[in-house]
Amino acid sequence: MDKIRIVGGNPLNGSIPISGAKNAALPLMIAALLTDEVLTLENVPRLRDVALLQRIISNHGVDYSLNGKRAGEDHLSGQTIHFHAEAIVDTLAPYDLVSQMRASFWVIGPILARMGEAVISLPGGCAIGTRPVDFFLMGLEQLGAEIEIDRGYVVAKAPNGLIGNRVVFPRVSVGATHTIMMAATLAKGETVIVNAAREPEVVDLARCLVAMGAKIEGAGSSEIRIQGVGRLHGATHRVLPDRIETGTYAMAVAMTGGEVTLEGTSADLLETALDTLGQAGVVVTPVSGGIKVYRNGNGLRPVDVTTEPFPGFPTDLQAQFMALMTKAGGTSRITETIFENRVMHIAELSRLGARIHHEGQVATVEGVDRLIGAPVMATDLRASVSLVIAGLAAEGETTVSRVYHLDRGFERLEEKLSRCGAEIERLAGEGAR
Ligand code: EPZ
Repeated sequence: MDKIRIVGGNPLNGSIPISGAKNAALPLMIAALLTDEVLTLENVPRLRDVALLQRIISNHGVDYSLNGKRAGEDHLSGQTIHFHAEAIVDTLAPYDLVSQMRASFWVIGPILARMGEAVISLPGGCAIGTRPVDFFLMGLEQLGAEIEIDRGYVVAKAPNGLIGNRVVFPRVSVGATHTIMMAATLAKGETVIVNAAREPEVVDLARCLVAMGAKIEGAGSSEIRIQGVGRLHGATHRVLPDRIETGTYAMAVAMTGGEVTLEGTSADLLETALDTLGQAGVVVTPVSGGIKVYRNGNGLRPVDVTTEPFPGFPTDLQAQFMALMTKAGGTSRITETIFENRVMHIAELSRLGARIHHEGQVATVEGVDRLIGAPVMATDLRASVSLVIAGLAAEGETTVSRVYHLDRGFERLEEKLSRCGAEIERLAGEGAR
């Protein structure tokens, strides 16, 4: 298995192109199941999760084809992929595929809406929390589906089609909002989603669905109204920039010092996280086509954060911010409220010399003067990248194993960082043991 080797201590200087958002690309690809015409997605990141979802939806009958390089594009430009679900040939999503990527459970919405039935494996366990699917099932039942659980599979039926209704989520869920919104586009009559997720990726999916002929209002607020239509058609849609990748590199610069322009992204996608960085002593300024990040010349200040659904501080930046706070001049408290077990990075950060005390959902981080490189590993995507950030600021060598987690969600991470002066490389296969 590959490893990442980092020799810490170099400031980051230069520019980093930000990729299309993984967490927008995945539901957008799933939306292709709603129409028998071609959905073209531009700015799709080259990630393991994208490739895996291509495989999963191709199992349902979706063809996909990729554009080659176009004038003005380089190897860091996003891909353009055409998805064509002319016929859904299989309404079953098997355990061996769904268990590899939770988001693939979301195919239940489009497949049920278009075919009147869907048999989708329950995703099973997850490294960051239990992550149940009860809101999805409740929402689909409210749209008239009959749902049974049979030998680890959700069997959902709506032979006469889904019927619009009021769906009230007890708690904000990004995936349940995506799924019910997609299903409702083809239901009869009006659906109102109450307590909907407001994440930019929900807005991006709604924009794409509207371009496909759906009637949706209110995406980005906590109440989304969808008028069902008879069919959707093809469209072309550009995936929005990745706000988590943006925040991650901003925190890397905050950690190492230097000055980096994050290209092709926008500060309004992550205002709370950038405000928090501002309080910690990081300057973030909008520039043409992106944002510039540098430290204000003083040391890092400790800041308390609590993760919340958008527009709050994102759980997907919690681990990275914790890495940053390990070098703040004082003590900070980081409270995780979205996932009950998103703490695996704490023990690994401690291996680099971080002082973190963890009780329940709260981590208390006492800033230290020095981190010292060590071999570390992590069990999920954002935890892995927090170790990379810490390694960039640690003295000496850090090796991060289980790099496949990083490949799920960070496109060409080593290349983007090394072109800004980081000493970072991938050790492939044998040599990495
Ligand atoms: C999405 O996951 C993201 N994944 C996650 O990113 C992100 O951390 C999360 O939203 C929160 O922002 C993708 O977009 C592919 P949720 P999702 O449903 O939709 C509970 C990453 O690193 N819940 O909003 O699965 C759930 O357990 C990933 O890129 C129920 O109780 O998250 C959690 O506590 C990790 N029942 C909370 O809601 C349900 O039926 C929010 O989860 C559904 C969710």
